[in-house]
Amino acid sequence: QESDFQITGTLAIAVFTAALGSLQYGYSLGVINAPQKIIEKNYARSLGLLSERLEQSENGTDETGFSESRNHPEVVMYWSLSVAIFSIGGMVSSFLVGFVGDLRGRVKGMLMVNVLAVVAGLLMGLCRIWKPHIMVISGRAVMGFYCGLTSGLVPMYIGEIAPKAYRGALGTLHQLAIVIGILISQVIGLDFVLGNDAMWPLLLGLSGAPAILQSLLLPFCPESPRYLYILLGKEQEARKSLRRLKGAYDPTPDLEEMKREKDEADKEPRVSILSLIFSSVYRQQLFVALMMHLSQQLSGINAIFYYSTAIFAQAGVSQPVYATIGVGVINTVFTLVSVALVDKAGRRTLSLVGLGGMCCCAVAMTVGLKLQNDFSWMSYVSMSAIFLFVSFFEIGPGPIPWFIVAELFSQGPRPAAIALAGCCNWTSNFIIAMTFPYIQVWLDCYVFILFAVLLFVFTLFIYLRVPETKGKTFKEIAAVFQKKPGTPKDNAELQQLKTSTDA
Ligand code: GLC
Repeated sequence: QESDFQITGTLAIAVFTAALGSLQYGYSLGVINAPQKIIEKNYARSLGLLSERLEQSENGTDETGFSESRNHPEVVMYWSLSVAIFSIGGMVSSFLVGFVGDLRGRVKGMLMVNVLAVVAGLLMGLCRIWKPHIMVISGRAVMGFYCGLTSGLVPMYIGEIAPKAYRGALGTLHQLAIVIGILISQVIGLDFVLGNDAMWPLLLGLSGAPAILQSLLLPFCPESPRYLYILLGKEQEARKSLRRLKGAYDPTPDLEEMKREKDEADKEPRVSILSLIFSSVYRQQLFVALMMHLSQQLSGINAIFYYSTAIFAQAGVSQPVYATIGVGVINTVFTLVSVALVDKAGRRTLSLVGLGGMCCCAVAMTVGLKLQNDFSWMSYVSMSAIFLFVSFFEIGPGPIPWFIVAELFSQGPRPAAIALAGCCNWTSNFIIAMTFPYIQVWLDCYVFILFAVLLFVFTLFIYLRVPETKGKTFKEIAAVFQKKPGTPKDNAELQQLKTSTDA
C-alpha cells in the first residue's frame, strides 16, 4: 500500500522528464531580461537605424548614439512585441491543454508539442539569416504557445502519476524546474557568457534544447494510469503502468479507487470548458482554482522578476544584475524548502504563510523606498524585503496553484479546469507585465502598497475558502466541495447535461 511505497526509478525518470518542459518555460520567462540592450541594438541595426558612428565605435559603446537608436519608436515597438507575444502565445494555447492531453494521452501530448519548442529555438537561434526582429518575434510566439501547453500538461501528468503521499512534493518540482530555468537563463545571459553581441541568438535559441532531451526520454515514461483506465477503460494497461511507476506491489486498491472515480465519471458527460464555466456543480472548485492562480500573479512576483534590475537600481544597489541573480538563487532555495514541507505542512498553511509574509514584505518595501533618501540604511530594508518577498512566494503561492488544480478536480473536469486556470495565469501575468511600468510611474514609491492590499485580500480568501488537500484521494477532495448530497438543482443540471451530450 501507499504508506510503505518507495519512489521507483521509473517514477523519478517520469517526473524528471516531464519537468524538463517546465525548465524550458522558466528559461523562456527569464532569458529576455538581461540581453535587452544588445537585442535592441541588433534590431536597430537590422532596421537600418544604427548610426554609422556607433557601428564603427569599438564594441558599440557610444552611449548617446546607442540610446538614440534604442529609443527609436520602431525599435521600442519590436522589442515590446518580442516580450509580450510570448504571453499571448501562452494565453491562446493554454485553452488547448485538455484537448492535447486527451488526444493521445499525456506522454504523447508532451512529445507532440516538443516540435513547437524546437521550431521556436531554431527561429531564434538562426535569426541572423533573415530579419532578426521578425525571426525573434515569431520564435517567441511559437515558444509562448508551447509553454502555455506545457505549463498545463506537466502538472496534469505529474499530478496523475504521483502517489498521494508525495503529490505535493512531486507537484512542486514543476515550479522547481521553472525557477531553475529562470536562474540558468540569468547566469548564461550575463554579458561575458552568452548575453553579448556575438552570442545572443544562441542564448535565445538554447531555449529549445530541453525539448530535445525530453523527446529522447519520453518514450521511457509510462502513460498516466488514470488516463488509461478512467478515460480509455484499459484496465490491464493501467495496471502495468501502475506497476512500472510503483514497483512490485498489488495495484488492486489503487485500481479500485480509480474504478470508483471511473463509475462517477461515466455517469457524467465529458466536461468541456464551457460547461465547466456554466455548471454550478463545480463552481466552488473553479472559483478556488482561479483565485489561487490570480493570487500567484497579482501578488506582484513578476514585477520583481521582469523589472528587478530597475527596482534594485532604484533601491540604490550598485550592481543590480548580480542582485537579480541573487533573487534567482533565493528563489530556487526556497522552492526546495517548499518541496520538503508541502506534504507535511499542507497546501493551505503554506499558502497562508506565504501570502501573509509577502503582504508584510510589500509594506516594508514601500517604507524602504519612501525613506531611502532620508536614511541611507533604508536601501538595506528594501533589499531584504525583496529577498524575503521572493522567499515567501516560493514556499507556497508560487508552486501550489500549479498543482492544486489537478488535485481539486476529478478526472472528468480536470483537463478543462487546468486549461481555464492556465489561461487565467497567463492573462494576469500578461496584464501585470504590460501595466507595471505605468503603475510604477503613477504610484511611484507606493507601488507595492497596491500589491500589499491585493495580498491581504487573497490571504483572507484562502483562510475562509480553501480546504486542505494534503494526503486526500481525489474523491475525498471532491467530496469536500460537494454541497449536501446532490441538491435537487445539481442533480437536475447533471441530468440535463447528460441528455444534451447523449443526444
Ligand atoms: C511561477 C509563476 C511565474 C513566475 C515564477 C517565479 O511559476 O507562474 O509567473 O515567474 O513563479 O518563480
